[in-house]
Amino acid sequence: MKNYTKIKDISNLSETIKDAILLKMNPFEFENLGKHKTLVMLFFNSSLRTRLSTEKAAKNLGMEVMILNINDAWNLEFEDGTIMNMDKSEHIKEAARVISQYADIIAVRAFPTLQDKAKDESEYILNNFKKYATVPIVNMESATAHPLQALADAITITELTEKAKPKVVISWAPHPKALPQAVANSFVEMMQDLGVDLTITHPEGYELNETITKDTPINYNQEEALKDADFVYVKNWSSYNDYGKVLNQDENWMLTKAKLGHAKFMHCLPVRRNVIVEDAVLDSEQSVVIKQANNRTYAAQIVLKQILEDL
Ligand code: CP
Repeated sequence: MKNYTKIKDISNLSETIKDAILLKMNPFEFENLGKHKTLVMLFFNSSLRTRLSTEKAAKNLGMEVMILNINDAWNLEFEDGTIMNMDKSEHIKEAARVISQYADIIAVRAFPTLQDKAKDESEYILNNFKKYATVPIVNMESATAHPLQALADAITITELTEKAKPKVVISWAPHPKALPQAVANSFVEMMQDLGVDLTITHPEGYELNETITKDTPINYNQEEALKDADFVYVKNWSSYNDYGKVLNQDENWMLTKAKLGHAKFMHCLPVRRNVIVEDAVLDSEQSVVIKQANNRTYAAQIVLKQILEDL
């Protein structure tokens, strides 16, 4: 693997999931693969799981890890040809090449503005690192995608499913703030590749990018969509068409134990209790969110392993 900026960078999904599950059973099997190699992790935004699980994954492979909260560094300019006489002190052209001298792999977390759709869709932060860095780039959640989370989700469903083709429903839920579409986008793409029976449910106005949803069924009736589900993945996202707007805060879309039926409950975390999902779901045996978070380590580890093998 050359980079992991999107799900399609995985050349063989079923093999990758199988190998991640094997790594989970023997996490130190390749502890010398990353010896004398360094992962630099750059955070433009907050993180708990991604930060700790990716660091753990790298260390399981014997790598050194350096972490930079980018707000502690110089303010970066991403535009070409600008006269840098305002608040930006360093251009991405220098920064990416300099960091590449300290790193064998660079991982980047950079959320969208949710104000400027075209700028967010250009993935200008991630793609400028990809353009100017001289080492592989890993996406730790960008403006439009969270492929490490989606790989962990695919591992979790593969481990827990009792059916060859489970029914998986991704349901929008209310949230007081405008959140990115990244997790939902990557989950939908990953489930399409995994070949599950996928349904998307959300209120009208919350349609995701149709180049991602393609022909996946969308049902505006949550109760109908959830019927006979094996896995229910709940997530809030802001409107894509009315870009970045919170159009609806209808609490009837919160997931309850009654709506969950016999399904397993999934969420990428962090989650707002009794807003997105009620306590009775999160505190039940049907919730697999802690297992999902654990699989973030093995998703990151299999990705780093495949990149190290290709260096
Ligand atoms: N799910 C996820 O990416 O968690 P963090 O934002 O805490 O990294």
